[in-house]
Amino acid sequence: MTWQARARSATSRSLARSPDSAWCSFRPASGGVIALEDFCPHRGAPLSLGFVRGDTLVCGYHGLAVDCRSRPDNMPGQQVGRFPPAHAFPVIERYGFIRVWPGDLEQAPADRLHPLPWAESPTGPMASDCSISPAITG
Ligand code: FES
Repeated sequence: MTWQARARSATSRSLARSPDSAWCSFRPASGGVIALEDFCPHRGAPLSLGFVRGDTLVCGYHGLAVDCRSRPDNMPGQQVGRFPPAHAFPVIERYGFIRVWPGDLEQAPADRLHPLPWAESPTGPMASDCSISPAITG
């Protein structure tokens, strides 16, 4: 098992769905990135069809808000204290990519992410915004 690069950091929106629809990621207002199974703890709707509100991801179906620790936070007209948490995946944002560990947190050591010294260099290819500029001017 290995960390899987699933989305580019620069292009990742506040809410994104994985290509295989197994998980979604969102950016809470307080920062970072959270990866959750794309399955609402209430009735199983895809969380990726919801929206981000502050530090929560709100399901678009009945409005359950899941916090950045994957716990149900609130829902209109419902008590959410007994709702199970959403399944969260370990996630690292490094070298320009959002990387998800598809297994358990205990088995996801960050040191198992292969080091890429060139990607951390301030003059390396990841330092560029990759904007296109003409090679010949004048
Ligand atoms: S299925 Fe998500 S709130 Fe009901």
